[in-house]
Amino acid sequence: MLTARLRTSLDSLRLWLRYAPGDALDSLLGRRAALVPPRRLAYVGPGDFAYLGQEFRRYFVELGGLQPGDRVLDIGCGVGRMAIPLIDYLEPPARFDGFDVSRRMIHWCQEHITPEHPNFVFEWTDVYNRQYNPGGSIDPGAFRFPVDDGSKDFVFATSVFTHMRAPGVEHYMAEIARTLAPGGTCLVTFFILDEVSRAHRQSDASAHHFVHEQDGYYSAHQVRHEIAVAFDEAEVKAMLVRHGLMLKSIEPGGWSGRRGALSAQDLVIAQRG
Ligand SMILES: C[S@@+](CC[C@H](N)C(=O)[O-])C[C@H]1O[C@@H](n2cnc3c(N)ncnc32)[C@H](O)[C@@H]1O
Repeated sequence: MLTARLRTSLDSLRLWLRYAPGDALDSLLGRRAALVPPRRLAYVGPGDFAYLGQEFRRYFVELGGLQPGDRVLDIGCGVGRMAIPLIDYLEPPARFDGFDVSRRMIHWCQEHITPEHPNFVFEWTDVYNRQYNPGGSIDPGAFRFPVDDGSKDFVFATSVFTHMRAPGVEHYMAEIARTLAPGGTCLVTFFILDEVSRAHRQSDASAHHFVHEQDGYYSAHQVRHEIAVAFDEAEVKAMLVRHGLMLKSIEPGGWSGRRGALSAQDLVIAQRG
């Protein structure tokens, strides 16, 4: 536990050292727009922060059927990469809730998004994640999302289940089913091992090599599993069934080197019956 915390602190320090000069310059030159987090916080994955937000807004609307009046839940919302582009799409009083295990990221959202947009609400949850919150006191396999049963029309998790072990993901699926209103939709990203990505598993074209088989999932790193986690396609489908979610579609991602993919990660879209 101590080593995990130390590693996370070192990771944060590395990010700070890498991005602090650019952040300082942005502040000095007044280059950063109000709703753009500093680079050291905005690093929630590779790629352009704003572009990816817009990309996912399109998927939410075109693949997930997100409507301007929908009540939305963002699981593992990070520093608002997906929330920010939805500000001018969702029409108040449509409420957007986001929660995350990173206190710093939630703090930024609460300070910079909610004051101007009070229908966008963010909550820090002290759930354990070896990579993101190694001191967390709550087991992800027992965490109750901070929203009521059947209170959301659209629930999503982008690049979150790619950093969680199987018991947590299984439980989060049950929570998605609990919080979705009947007919509501979820869009969740995964690294899915299907025929194509499995064949590419060790190739240079693959961004992650999921060669460590664990209990119900695969990790790309022998010890620090939460760096990147994959699931068998059959297991993802079975999980949806177990929680009464009907699969609408899987859009394979390009992470494994697959050509012609829509996005980087695999998109899973499902509906509560
Ligand atoms: C790669 S970032 C993606 C953030 C955000 N979803 C986005 O797309 O910008 C992964 C996020 O998952 C969060 N996370 C990890 N485990 C979690 C858990 N059990 N519950 C909620 N959030 C979690 C991390 O704190 C981190 O913000």
